[in-house]
Amino acid sequence: MASTITLNTGARMPILGLGTWKASPGQVEEAVKAAILAGYRHIDGAYLYENEKEVGAGVHAMIDQGVVKREDLFIVSKLWSTFHERHLVRGACETTLRDLNLPYLDLYLIHLPMGFKPGEESFPFDAEGQVIPDNSNFLETWEEMEKLVDAGLVKAIGVSNFNRAQIEALLNKPGLKYKPANNQIECHPYLTQVKLINYCQSKGISVTAYSPLGSPDRPWAKAGEPSLLDEPKIKAIAAKHHKTTAQVLIRFHIERNVAVIPKSANPKRIKENFQVFDFKLNNDEMNTILSFNRNWRILPMEWATKHKDFPLNAEY
Ligand code: A2P
Repeated sequence: MASTITLNTGARMPILGLGTWKASPGQVEEAVKAAILAGYRHIDGAYLYENEKEVGAGVHAMIDQGVVKREDLFIVSKLWSTFHERHLVRGACETTLRDLNLPYLDLYLIHLPMGFKPGEESFPFDAEGQVIPDNSNFLETWEEMEKLVDAGLVKAIGVSNFNRAQIEALLNKPGLKYKPANNQIECHPYLTQVKLINYCQSKGISVTAYSPLGSPDRPWAKAGEPSLLDEPKIKAIAAKHHKTTAQVLIRFHIERNVAVIPKSANPKRIKENFQVFDFKLNNDEMNTILSFNRNWRILPMEWATKHKDFPLNAEY
């Protein structure tokens, strides 16, 4: 059985979830089914991933076959940046619920702290290749997120890609009704996020790590970039435990009480990635893995550096 993290709402989030970013619509329904059959109960998705209908079909197939009940599952989605203006938030959530064919989400995150110009394009760019902002600020967007909880559309709300100052601004917002339950951030041995994780956890905000395997399938990968799955020292730790490198990269987060959402569209690897509850990494091994930190990002968001709410200029 997978362990869980208790959110500041009292709900329990399974610490290991299936990531669905980059999972094609043609593959993701089978991936979700394979994951639920393998024991996963947490599925991470987003409007941006353009596959929520297929994710929902996989979930419903498993419910219909009696493998799980809805209440056994922890389903996460994210509000995309073109829907940050107050009047767009509820409709965006309803679209996701309709696509997933579910009455509620367990956790709904603001995908990025930055609002983008509303419209058909998920990434509205200007002539310089910078994203075009909207007129929102994330404090207002948060108030609309709070209303989704009150309306029963989502059980908990949180953020993603927020830095410390942005979380602090939320926590200090006059009239704050619900604290964020989670901050989902890029995290792996090249970007260990020690300070941001400590900060969030000290405030009762759980953390989820995305791109735990270094997202080798990112479309912009270049030759010569570092590859976590090929790191000899991490491979050696894996060999010692009779585990795979991917399993060690996943277990690394579990040891820190950080939720982790490896993506796979391959049933064999989906099963492999779940076999991480029968071994532990000791302090020396954790320190070795932490020593790989080089603040290297898969998602540097260089197309948003001029946005007023660009999150990655701060130290953390
Ligand atoms: P695939 O979907 O074909 O299994 P991240 O979660 O960091 O974004 O990484 C996802 C990438 O890692 C995908 O390319 C995925 O490929 C690959 N991957 C997932 N699980 C494993 C594994 N156990 N071993 C090797 N590669 C994996």
